Amino acid sequence: MPKRAHLIAGILAPLCIVTFFVSTLLVELFGSHAAVAQLKAMIVTPGLWIMIPAIAAAGGSGMFLGKSRKGRLVGAKKMRMPFIAANGLLVLVPCAIVLNRWAAAGTFDTTFYVVQTIELIAGATNFVLMGLNVRDGLRMAGRLHAVPFMPAKTS
Ligand code: HEM
Repeated sequence: MPKRAHLIAGILAPLCIVTFFVSTLLVELFGSHAAVAQLKAMIVTPGLWIMIPAIAAAGGSGMFLGKSRKGRLVGAKKMRMPFIAANGLLVLVPCAIVLNRWAAAGTFDTTFYVVQTIELIAGATNFVLMGLNVRDGLRMAGRLHAVPFMPAKTS
């Protein structure tokens, strides 16, 4: 059961991030201010209510599964988790909340776009960290094989 929960949460969390990231870029580049405001509202509700529990569930179930495992891959996953959690709670959540407030009030000033840029950078960072955790997780579960080391020919 923890394995199934970990697999679901471990796929859902990065999926949320990539959905928010791509939809934000598209609507900022091609959408109206009204469309941006609508997306900002959806990223807060239901978005954050899905993403934050998914990150917590992936981390919690991962720590549980990791108790009985040793090695480089599990160590690397454990080390990335505090950065993923802090980035989510301390950067992505506050950014999403203030951007939603400003967009709802029609305030699209320089501060809005500075915070928007910070949110995109934090989102991309978390996507990379979670992607590495997915890769290492799939390797540990035996679903993905590491690329074998091929020494270069010397003659
Ligand atoms: C957001 C963070 C994380 C993501 C996105 C993630 C993702 C995944 C994924 C997709 C799998 C493959 C599951 C399967 O194929 O059944 C996996 C496996 C695994 N993960 Fe994570 N994981 C995360 C955090 C952690 C943490 C913090 C640990 C603790 C060290 C951990 C430990 C494990 C272990 C031990 C497995 C192998 C389970 C098995 O043998 O079937 N994960 N992870």
